[in-house]
Amino acid sequence: MHLDHHEAPVLEALARYRDADELGFTPPGHKQARGADPAVRAVLGDAVFHGDVLASGGLDDRRTKGRILERAEELMADAVHAEHTFFSTCGSSLSVKAAMLTVAAHGQKLLVGRDAHKSVIAGLILSGIEPVWIEPQWDRERHLAHPPSAQAFERGFAEHPDARGALVTSPTPYGSAAALQEIAEVCHRRSRPLIVDEAWGAHLPFHPALPSWAMDAGADVCVTSIHKMGSGLEQGSVFHLKGTLIDPAALASRADLLGTTSPSVLLYAGIDGWRRQMALHGHGLMSRALDLAAEVRASIEAIDGLHVNDEDDFCGPGLAAEFDPLPVVIDIGRLRTTGYRAADWIRAQHHLDLHLFDHRRISAQITHADDASTTERLLSALRDLVDHADALRPAPEVAVPDPEDLRMKQASLPRDAYFSATEDVSWKEAAGRVAAEMITPYPPGIPVVLPGEELTEPVLRYLRTGVEAGMNLPDAADAQLDTVRVVACTAARRRWP
Ligand SMILES: Cc1ncc(COP(=O)(O)O)c(C=O)c1O
Repeated sequence: MHLDHHEAPVLEALARYRDADELGFTPPGHKQARGADPAVRAVLGDAVFHGDVLASGGLDDRRTKGRILERAEELMADAVHAEHTFFSTCGSSLSVKAAMLTVAAHGQKLLVGRDAHKSVIAGLILSGIEPVWIEPQWDRERHLAHPPSAQAFERGFAEHPDARGALVTSPTPYGSAAALQEIAEVCHRRSRPLIVDEAWGAHLPFHPALPSWAMDAGADVCVTSIHKMGSGLEQGSVFHLKGTLIDPAALASRADLLGTTSPSVLLYAGIDGWRRQMALHGHGLMSRALDLAAEVRASIEAIDGLHVNDEDDFCGPGLAAEFDPLPVVIDIGRLRTTGYRAADWIRAQHHLDLHLFDHRRISAQITHADDASTTERLLSALRDLVDHADALRPAPEVAVPDPEDLRMKQASLPRDAYFSATEDVSWKEAAGRVAAEMITPYPPGIPVVLPGEELTEPVLRYLRTGVEAGMNLPDAADAQLDTVRVVACTAARRRWP
């Protein structure tokens, strides 16, 4: 079937809706901005309300006979070499859960890279799937995790031949990518599907110099946030499907189970527009972004005290397989301050928001939207940071554990621990207790602690010193970590005598 990528069915239908002066006696109640508070209209602009219409019984007819969303999804699938694409307005947080629930069910096993995002852990809690943790590849010197190797998945299947499939995160928010083709082969030798959490990979299909795209590497389903590296609006996500190991109707049904009945057409329009933009201009836009990222990287490297992590730092035996240069990860260790302090200072002084920050790094995400006017601001802020580093010292020390001390015993299923009776205990007394909550430094959103893990002193000390240094733990019951939510003693005795 020949598809015309100049078309953008959702955007065109929105334009038609407006031209026809369509009027809904339906939600949304603002009725094309008419009812919205003028003060809200002044801030948001009426375009937001004009694009906010019912998806069926508004944009399309009540039985969606115009196939507007379906045609937009077909065009997206075609653009990214998938067989089916589904749009989601609940972020990759929903998409990844839908994919997991299609591959495994309550009580079944799934191989999962332990560097998974919190939405994957939420999927485990909701579903009761039993995770078989696959260790990431640790850079001990930099204290950084890269995606697990194919060999690690091979070992996982050898030890758990009943595992229903595998899930790997690639690229990571730091821009390191897995050997997807090899991991897919490991899965397919057993006729098991591979899910790739490619939330950070919306741009990958559109330039050969970027890391392998999951649909080209043989993955069965991949999940992508269009708002992260693409031009979509926040929460716009897609999942793509290929091959025969996953039933598209089952995947659609799982997404239906989790999703909203009121999807935002604004988000659909953003996804549709991104696909057209990339199908028509993606290669040029990505080439320009890659060139710009190379210039920015070289300029930052030339600033005394800063080091930009490059392919040589991240890739090689025991490390990542591929590298995305657009997330520019900057090691500020030589400034003897933390990424938290540096990022706060840059926001306060220069009104620039950095992406990731930890005990020794900050990162700046470059996309096709950048040009010299944005990157110059970044570079001058970084130069200024170095000039003012004295003011950011001494920074509180974060007690970062070695990789082996970071890993805890999974004493019970995440679901069982999460839904058990709980109590809050002082962090000083929590070692040896079973966590009943996720504790996740954000960003990037990879939980250090999962429900069901037996807490250890090095991990608790890491998190506690992290909070004192500026680490953000938004999902912990006590974000300051004076206390930790653990499985109550009585519940522990009842469940695990
Ligand atoms: C690896 C990974 N997967 C999934 C998600 C969830 O994506 P979303 O924010 O679109 O729900 C994120 C968000 O940061 C992520 O980093």
